[in-house]
Amino acid sequence: MTDRVLSGMRPTGALHLGHYHGALKNWVRLQSEMECFYFVADWHALTTHYQSREVIEKNVYEMVIDWLAAGLDPDKCTLFLQSRIPEHAELFTLLAMSTPISWLERVPTYKDQQEKLKEKDLTTYGFLGYPLLQAADILIYKAKHVPVGEDQASHVELTREAARRFNHLYGREPDFDALVQQCLSKLPKDIVKRFEKSRKQFQETGDTKALDGAMGYLQNATELTDKDRERLEGYFKGTGKAVLTEPHALLTEASKLPGLDGVKMSKSYNNTIDMREDKASIDAKVKRMQTDPARIKRTDAGNPDLCPVWQFHLVYSPESTRQWVKTECTRAGIGCLECKQPIIEAIIAEQQPMLERAAPFISNPRLVRDIVDAGTQRARSTAQDTMRDVREAMGLNY
Ligand code: TRP
Ligand code: SF4
Repeated sequence: MTDRVLSGMRPTGALHLGHYHGALKNWVRLQSEMECFYFVADWHALTTHYQSREVIEKNVYEMVIDWLAAGLDPDKCTLFLQSRIPEHAELFTLLAMSTPISWLERVPTYKDQQEKLKEKDLTTYGFLGYPLLQAADILIYKAKHVPVGEDQASHVELTREAARRFNHLYGREPDFDALVQQCLSKLPKDIVKRFEKSRKQFQETGDTKALDGAMGYLQNATELTDKDRERLEGYFKGTGKAVLTEPHALLTEASKLPGLDGVKMSKSYNNTIDMREDKASIDAKVKRMQTDPARIKRTDAGNPDLCPVWQFHLVYSPESTRQWVKTECTRAGIGCLECKQPIIEAIIAEQQPMLERAAPFISNPRLVRDIVDAGTQRARSTAQDTMRDVREAMGLNY
């Protein structure tokens, strides 16, 4: 089986070109390379929108349509809805038992978002727990790769810590066998032979004398560190296995496409073009874009390096057009509206296949629900398998 990829997005608004260039294009590429699970993080959206849940309701299926428009193919990847898989909450609860509050308090997004979203009361238990819920999302699918932006890297790091702690408490490390061999190689060969013999005896017959003897020996073996002793004890008793897999972030290159004002494209900055924005509005928004502030009159020469429109040319225009912009802008040979025209056309052309892919889903919303239902069923069965392992590892199978 190939490695599994998992990522999610919060359904808090229409997706825009920043999402497309920053994340979705990457998701689409990955679906042909690995087994990909992508989900609508509606519980995560609730942590910041618990007072405006209708926003979420409105955007759950709309966001899936945006995904399909971008080119995610339900035959290649699994698309699902977080709140339909209560196992995420179960794992979150179990992880919470052993997660120090300080781990969550020191995640940088916790304070940052509270600062940034001052109008919202984010001094909630749910908001503090946000990254741990994210950890549960990831760990429950034993995902190896998590495509996210830089801002989410600390959440993936916390996920790794949570997995490590869980495995330490209830399982064993993934490279356990190699580490055990390393510990054993520190001991004399004849001792190792005896150790293996009593281990077999203990595991097969539950002979506690064999156990006590071996543990007594380990206690006094000066070649070993405390960590070695713990490992060999686990090896001897045959307890646990690497229940949860440590994932790593697949850092998405930051989108080269800024917002209309030249800073990061974001709904809260009111500088977006939506993926399915209508043509007239694309035209109007680009025409209204700020340009080099020094270029006041048509006869003033401009400097593309100081102009957000240039950033758009870098994403959308071929070399020949860029050359034309550079030459003509700097000698006031073209006006800014002229300069913007190829961008308007390029955005509309890029959007065309997306609108075509979205059309059948807009006219028949049942299709979207069916895709999410099927994906949710698939994902849930994987989540249930993991939870079976987790409960067993924790000894919750009374
Ligand atoms: N926190 C992510 C964001 O704000 C969304 C998310 C929730 C997520 N659970 C996840 C991303 C699991 C990756 C994996 O963008
Ligand atoms: Fe910007 Fe183009 Fe106007 Fe130059 S001509 S200032 S690059 S919009």
